[in-house]
Amino acid sequence: MRVFSGIQPTGAMHIGNYLGAIKQWVAMQTTGSVYCVVDLHALTLETEPALRREQTLDAFASLLAAGLDPSVGPVFLQSRVPYHAQMNWLLECVTSFGELGRMTQFKEKAERQVGHRVGLFTYPVLMAGDILLYETNQVPVGDDQRQHIELAREIAIRFNNRYGDTFVVPEAVLPAVGARIMDLQEPTRKMSKSVSSPLGTVYMFDGPADVEKKIMKAVTDTDGEVRYDPDAKPGLSNLLEIFSALSFESPVDIAARYQRYGDLKRDVADALNAELAPLSRRYRELRSEEGEIERVIDEGTATAAAIAAPVYHRAAHAMGLL
Ligand code: AMP
Ligand code: TRP
Repeated sequence: MRVFSGIQPTGAMHIGNYLGAIKQWVAMQTTGSVYCVVDLHALTLETEPALRREQTLDAFASLLAAGLDPSVGPVFLQSRVPYHAQMNWLLECVTSFGELGRMTQFKEKAERQVGHRVGLFTYPVLMAGDILLYETNQVPVGDDQRQHIELAREIAIRFNNRYGDTFVVPEAVLPAVGARIMDLQEPTRKMSKSVSSPLGTVYMFDGPADVEKKIMKAVTDTDGEVRYDPDAKPGLSNLLEIFSALSFESPVDIAARYQRYGDLKRDVADALNAELAPLSRRYRELRSEEGEIERVIDEGTATAAAIAAPVYHRAAHAMGLL
């Protein structure tokens, strides 16, 4: 059973990344799992090269601090394994303009970015290649990636039909709660690295005072009833989901225990801080040991390349490349 997932090194990780993806990665990590920092995907955003390097090291430190163990399964850097870029090209030649044009994330990002880069359009093909190179069965991700995984499935099935059985057909695994954490100030918009909302985004490594301030100021509503109802009460329901993802109790059961918003908020802040404080400590240690991170990258990359190589060659051969 292979589990594969990737995350972009595009800035500080927030609790949406943590509860939607990274926490699942840790829970699902076995000798069959492969996790990747997707720096090629992050090239779709323009960033100073020096900052990009820092963000890549940060991403590794964040994943290790969250509990990924590189001695269990590789944690590697996408750009170091050349098969990702190569597989991308093969798969671009079995993917249509139309299906990429339908990707919600492309449509949203294209609206925000000026001087549209082609990479933004073909991004999901590179991602499909990431997944298919590792004969992946399960891909733990947040809700916003569901459509991209569906596309990877379609590409795999189409390739297999056209060129013979080559790829394993993957499926997305979403967490039961926390797959879509919303911005605390604008709870109808998902928490995001790319839209900056200083009070709306709780970062994994915010200090306890910041976590508490942001949760206490979270936008709710004025009807005064603690009830889980994402449509009618998005802000309050988001807090209940965050709490639920940490405590494994259902949002409905949690709501039943509270009369006042303030009491709920205080307990959500405490639960978040209890979860995040040890991660922050570990993160600071790791970030001061760059040598350790580079060792993890080198080792992970070698292991990953050994898995990806035969799959790439099988696909290239199936298409008739000599
Ligand atoms: P990204 O930051 O776009 O590389 O996303 C990394 C992972 O975090 C992906 O699996 C996303 O689905 C997940 N993710 C990002 N934002 C959220 C959010 N607000 N709630 C839940 N999961 C999220
Ligand atoms: N596109 C994903 C995101 O923005 C990151 C990603 C790239 C990924 N390749 C992947 C996720 C492969 C899962 C599997 O979050």
